[in-house]
Amino acid sequence: MSASGQQDEFKRAAAARAVEEIHDGMIVGLGSGSTAEFAVEALAARVVKGLRVEGIPTSERTAALARRLGVPLTDFAAHRRIDITIDGADQVERGTLNLIKGLGGALLREKIVATASARMIVVVDASKLVDRLGGAVPLPVEIVSFGWEAVLASLASAACAPRLRHVDSRPFVTDNANYIADCAITDIADAAALNVRLKTIAGVVETGLFIALASQVFVGRAGGVDVFSR
Ligand code: A5P
Repeated sequence: MSASGQQDEFKRAAAARAVEEIHDGMIVGLGSGSTAEFAVEALAARVVKGLRVEGIPTSERTAALARRLGVPLTDFAAHRRIDITIDGADQVERGTLNLIKGLGGALLREKIVATASARMIVVVDASKLVDRLGGAVPLPVEIVSFGWEAVLASLASAACAPRLRHVDSRPFVTDNANYIADCAITDIADAAALNVRLKTIAGVVETGLFIALASQVFVGRAGGVDVFSR
């Protein structure tokens, strides 16, 4: 099997194990990204067998997948609280289970859903585990499109090296009609303080730092799934 095929197997294993935690009647937060999509597929297989749940998706892409696979959807107008959310991550800090999320661009809805959840299970393969957030993975920050040049300048003075995310030479536009600044930071020593600092910048909508939101992290590996709890 190719390395990426094996990585997908690890992601699928973590997702399948997390979906076992979903029970009849639950409101389920549906994450975004390839690992979370494996979870939606595993959930759909249980729905076909009679499991009754309703999902709140964190992106238009996940919503479309859930609809296609027959997972019933609901929203915050009907439910303010979510029983369990299963989502991926771009980095997981081993000691704290703090996360960087948003390389897929869905970080704002992901954070709203995670914050409203009684339990958030993060599903990853081992490549996402780090001793300290930052470094190889930029920190995505959702910003309004108006005055983005000025917002990037403010981010740059807050110890980040921001770049506006582009797709096909055009600014990437989120599901919320905003832009994303990908901020290179070598080493995030105090993620909570950085999150607060970035959120004071006018034009910053949300950061991809998920502090104390993950209840558990399920890590797929050869022959099993490791579970880390906060
Ligand atoms: C989406 O905005 C992200 O937060 C994803 O959860 C994250 O990028 C993980 O994606 P993969 O499971 O595809 O690595």
